[in-house]
Formats: sequence, structure tokens, C-alpha cells
Amino acid sequence: TTRIFSGIKPTGHLTLGNYLGAVRRWVDEDQHRADALFCVVDLHALTVAHDPARVRRLSRQAASLLLAAGLDPERCTVFVQSHVDEHTRLAYLLECTATDSEMRRMIQYKEKAARERGGGDGVRLSLLTYPVLMAADILAYGTDEVPVGDDQTQHVELTRDLARRFNERYGQVFTVPRATPPAVAARVMDLQDPASKMGKSHAETSGIVYLLDEPDVVRRKIMRAVTDSGSVVAYDREAQPGVSNLLDVLAACWGGGVRPDEVAGRFGSYGALKKETADAVVELLRPVRERHAEISADPEYVDGVLAAGAERARQLARPRVDSAYRAIGLMPAL
Ligand code: TYM
Repeated sequence: TTRIFSGIKPTGHLTLGNYLGAVRRWVDEDQHRADALFCVVDLHALTVAHDPARVRRLSRQAASLLLAAGLDPERCTVFVQSHVDEHTRLAYLLECTATDSEMRRMIQYKEKAARERGGGDGVRLSLLTYPVLMAADILAYGTDEVPVGDDQTQHVELTRDLARRFNERYGQVFTVPRATPPAVAARVMDLQDPASKMGKSHAETSGIVYLLDEPDVVRRKIMRAVTDSGSVVAYDREAQPGVSNLLDVLAACWGGGVRPDEVAGRFGSYGALKKETADAVVELLRPVRERHAEISADPEYVDGVLAAGAERARQLARPRVDSAYRAIGLMPAL
């Protein structure tokens, strides 16, 4: 069977970008057609300045939201990265396979390191090695497919390189995975700044729709989205990034393979497009928000799911990570 792995980082509240780019497919497709693992990658949240209590809170919230969105613990494995030691064990071996120049080429490193340098506390070494830990997350499970948004495909490419390199040098241990970004809304942009990605850790929040925003807040954010100076509703991400972003979002809400350029033809004005998009997003998120209220009222349920998930993940990862230890030349412990 196909093995699927993906993760989400608890550095902020989950956004519409996370949902359309990743989580919705985990729920609607991946958990039904494969042996899928979905991980709250808390160790990754420590790579930038962080508040310990907030990371802990956001990790629990992310897990609750994944369940609220419809991940079914009977069908897939939901767990927290730091509960399974295999990730960091394997990351070290992969660090002995990767090079520093490969790390410095990563777009996300360049962007985030620039931001962190501005903060004055320096850039954490773990920010540089982040993609290696991500590769370990993926490779520990013999993953075939990694459902992620566009911004993560470079990291998955690196993961492929590291898997091949390890296999060539030390023997066949890892499956070479591939990224499977969605056909529509693989990169949802900020509503106030359609040149940049809608990101959960951005400070300015008026252009970000959070999964737990109240309907009136969602409506307001979408109705105030920056559009373009023209007036024709056309799908052109270069010339009309704001409108095209709304078309992406609406096409994704409608689903069923509808393309954003087809959606464009149905609207005569920006206002009509915004109103339709706002309604569609509110309806899309409503059940998630309602179920989240129920699930987060039952922390024991969430704990139970995460404990069972971590147990299963450990059992899957350990043999492969142990083989990697042997292959690379480490002496078995007696
Ligand atoms: P993270 O937490 O930033 O995002 C989680 C998922 O949401 C997608 N995504 C988006 N998709 C479309 N438009 C957007 N604006 C948008 N913002 C985020 C991301 O592409 C991702 O699929 N490094 C990863 C977490 C990670 C991981 C892994 C993922 C760690 N280990 C192993 C897969 C496999 C990250 O920071 O995702």
C-alpha cells in the first residue's frame, strides 16, 4: 500500500492556506486511499524565537483542528513529532549526508534567516538544518507521497536527493518520496499582500483567514481583500494577483476539478466575486469550527488519539531507522 506522510508546524493558528493547500486533501482523499500519517511537527516550531507555553498550546490546538477537520484516527495515524524519538535519531544521520551549501540554498531558510537576523538574537542553527529534520520525518516511514503546498516542494526535492545519496553510499534503506501538491490553491496568497504567501506566523493578520475565525471576521477579511486596478475578472496571477488569489480560493472551495479560469467567467465584478468567495469560505470552515469546539472540550480524547498515534508511528519508524544506523557504520548496542 501507498504510504503517505505530511506535517504541520505549530507556529501559529492554522490558516485557510494550510487547509486548502494540505489538510483538506488529507481528510478527503489521502486517509481513504493510503496508509497515511499526519504529524504536528513541534520540533520544527523551535527553529525560530518561540514562547514555550504557546508552542505547547498550539500543538494541542493543531491536533484538535486536524481531528475537527475530519482526520479519522481509525483510518490514519495522527501524532506529535517530539513523541517519537526516531525523527531526531534519523535527522543526525542525514546531517552526515547533507551539505551546508545545500541547506543555504533553501528559499525558506533565506527568507526566515533574513527575518530572524532583523530580530537581533541571531539565527538558530536548527533553522539551517530544518530541511534535514523534515527529510527524516518523511524518510523514517518509507513514505511514497508527501501532500504539501507549493512552498514545501523544494524541501521534498532535497529529501529525494538525500534518500538517493544515502541509498547509493550505504545500501538501499529509504524509499524516494514525491511531493503531491494540490491542483488548485497550492499557494494561497495573503489577502492584503497578494505577492506573499498566506502564512500563519505573519504579524499582520488582516490578510489571513484563520480556520477558527468567526464567520463575520472571515467575511470582512475577504470583502476587504486587495484587488487589482482593472475591473475585468480574469485569472492572471502575474497581472491580477489579488483577483486570481480569490479565484483560486473559490475554485478550491467548489472543488470537483473546477479550474480558477473557468470560475472567472462567471463574475462580472470584483464585488460579486468577493461576496461569493466569502460565502463559500464561511460554509467551508463552519463544520470545522463547530467540531473543534466539541473536540477541544474533550482533551482526554485528543490525548488518547495522540498516544495511540505515537505508539504506531514508533513501531513503523524504528526498524527503518535502526537499519540506517547499521548501514552507515554504527556499532549495534548489545
Ligand atoms: P507548514 O506548517 O508551514 O504548513 C503546513 C502545510 O500547509 C501548506 N501551506 C500552504 N498551502 C497553500 N497556501 C498557503 N498559503 C500555505 N501555507 C502553508 C504547506 O505547504 C504545508 O503542506 N515544513 C513544513 C512542515 C513539515 C512537513 C514535514 C511537511 C515538517 N516535516 C514532513 C511534510 C512532510 C511546514 O512548515 O509546513
